[in-house]
Amino acid sequence: MATASSGSRRKRTRRARPRVSVLRVGHRVGRDPRLTTHLALAARALGAERMYLHPADPALAARVAAVVADWGGAFEVVGVDSWKAVVRAAPGPVVHLTMYGLPFERVLPRFARAPDLLVVVGGAKVPADLYRLADANVAVGSQPHSEVAALAIVLDRLLGGPRDAAPPGARLRVRPRAKGKNVEVVRGAR
Ligand SMILES: C[S@@+](CC[C@H](N)C(=O)[O-])C[C@H]1O[C@@H](n2cnc3c(N)ncnc32)[C@H](O)[C@@H]1O
Repeated sequence: MATASSGSRRKRTRRARPRVSVLRVGHRVGRDPRLTTHLALAARALGAERMYLHPADPALAARVAAVVADWGGAFEVVGVDSWKAVVRAAPGPVVHLTMYGLPFERVLPRFARAPDLLVVVGGAKVPADLYRLADANVAVGSQPHSEVAALAIVLDRLLGGPRDAAPPGARLRVRPRAKGKNVEVVRGAR
C-alpha cells in the first residue's frame, strides 16, 4: 500500500519549464517609456529571457540594461525592425495575449512543456495580422486591462513565480525585512 511517507521519499523531478521570450509590439517611443520599462522589468523578474521591442528604443534598452547590471541575470531588450520577422523566426509556439482570446486557464497547459515560447503583447493598437500568425490568442479574463498584468499572470503560470533573490552577476541583493529596506552589495560581483 502506498503511504504518505513512501510518496514523499519518491525522487521529485523538476518540471522542465519553457524558455520564454516576450515580444512587445506597438511601443510608442517617447510616449510610453514607463509602461514598456515596467513590462521589461516584470518579464525579467518573472523569468523571461529577453524582450523584443518593436519599434526599437535604444534609450529604454539601455535603462533596462542598467537594472540588469545592478540586479543580475542575462535579460536583455532587443530592438527589432520587423515584429513579423520575430514571430516567423520563433523557435516554438507563439502565444498572443489579448482580451479577445480564449481563457488562459484552458489554453496555457498545451504550451507548458514546449522548450521555447514567444509571448506577444500589444500596445494601444494591435496589428490585425498578429491574431492570424499567433498559434494561440489567449485572454487573461475578457476585460481590457494592462499588458503588464496579463504578462505577469501568464509568466507566473508558465514559470512558477519570481526567480532568485540574486541571479548570477548581481551587484545588489535585497535582504527581505518585515519593515524598512535592506540592500546588500554582493561581494565579488563585477
Ligand atoms: C491597452 S491593451 C489593448 C487591449 C486590446 N484591445 C486587446 O487586444 O487586448 C494593450 C495590451 O494589453 C494586453 N491585454 C489587455 N487586456 C488583456 C486581457 N484581458 N487578456 C490578455 N491580454 C490583455 C494585450 O496584450 C493588449 O495588446
